[in-house]
Amino acid sequence: MQPLKIGVIGGGLMGHGIAYLLAAAGHEVGVFEPNAELRASMPRRLAAIIDLLGDDAALLERISAHEQMVPAVQGSSFVFEAAPEKLPLKQKIFAELESAVSAETILASNSSAIPTTEIGRDLKHRERVIGTHFWNPPHLVPLVEVIQNEKTSDAVVRATMDLLRDAGKTPVHVRRDVPGFVGNRLQHAMKREAFALVAAGVCDAETVDTVVKEGFGARTAVLGPMEQSDLVGLDLALDIADVLYEHLDRTAAAPSILRDKVKAGKLGMKSGEGLRKWRPGEADAVRARLSRFLADQAKARKKGRA
Ligand SMILES: NC(=O)c1ccc[n+]([C@@H]2O[C@H](COP(=O)([O-])OP(=O)(O)OC[C@H]3O[C@@H](n4cnc5c(N)ncnc54)[C@H](O)[C@@H]3O)[C@@H](O)[C@H]2O)c1
Repeated sequence: MQPLKIGVIGGGLMGHGIAYLLAAAGHEVGVFEPNAELRASMPRRLAAIIDLLGDDAALLERISAHEQMVPAVQGSSFVFEAAPEKLPLKQKIFAELESAVSAETILASNSSAIPTTEIGRDLKHRERVIGTHFWNPPHLVPLVEVIQNEKTSDAVVRATMDLLRDAGKTPVHVRRDVPGFVGNRLQHAMKREAFALVAAGVCDAETVDTVVKEGFGARTAVLGPMEQSDLVGLDLALDIADVLYEHLDRTAAAPSILRDKVKAGKLGMKSGEGLRKWRPGEADAVRARLSRFLADQAKARKKGRA
């Protein structure tokens, strides 16, 4: 693919990783980050990814950080928005983008939950507004959900998927702008059941984690739930569904176990206790293990593509 000029809005957790992976694919990336401290810390955060992945540090020369939006996005073929998850803010950013870039520039939002139908509601050229839901950390997790809203053109979907595929990502086409898209709906359906099992005293939180990691989780990277159903046979899948589904949790609101923990200040690793207790050093060990695991996988994928 020809190197393109690409803009990224917001150089926070997601924005700096998105900028990295696009620069690693050969593109020139301008990042608009209004917070001076975060702008100043970008080179250090990007250099940490170079260390983790063993990439050539020269790719960082293709990333520039800007205090203003216009110089970051001018002449861009794509702009990826990764600003805070607030609808009025995202609408304002998209309105400003409309006057800063050409009518052909594809405007993508990394929103986790806000429909791009709403974000792009007042724009003149709505066919180029699309959702691109990266997973954290975006430079390591392969999947990007590409969400087409009612106005997004098929050509814009194709161009976005091509760009992401060329950058080594695994884009999937989500055909309707539904809350949670596909990945978070699946993830939270499992979490709802996990919270219910712990709340009912069936097992503790640690056991849930062991069951997932050492059980079906051990094979999910090579066997998705649809493949697994076909593997065991749909007759067996139906027999299990007939017996089990009526017992699964169907609570329509957030579970009280979660609400009560938050009320008690038990927020998880950052407060030392959440669903599990975290002694000093344990949370850092989990983060380091995760980062190493994802980086090893990313390196292996890159080697496979070379
Ligand atoms: N964190 C995740 O795991 C994750 C995963 C997928 C999607 N997302 C989504 O990505 C988006 C960004 O999330 P994040 O975790 O990177 O947040 P973050 O807070 O780390 O980063 C947001 C950045 O945007 C900057 N910003 C604030 N106002 C701005 C403005 N007017 N214009 C441009 N930039 C501005 C902030 O200074 C900050 O650096 C959100 O929509 C979030 O829902 C997050």
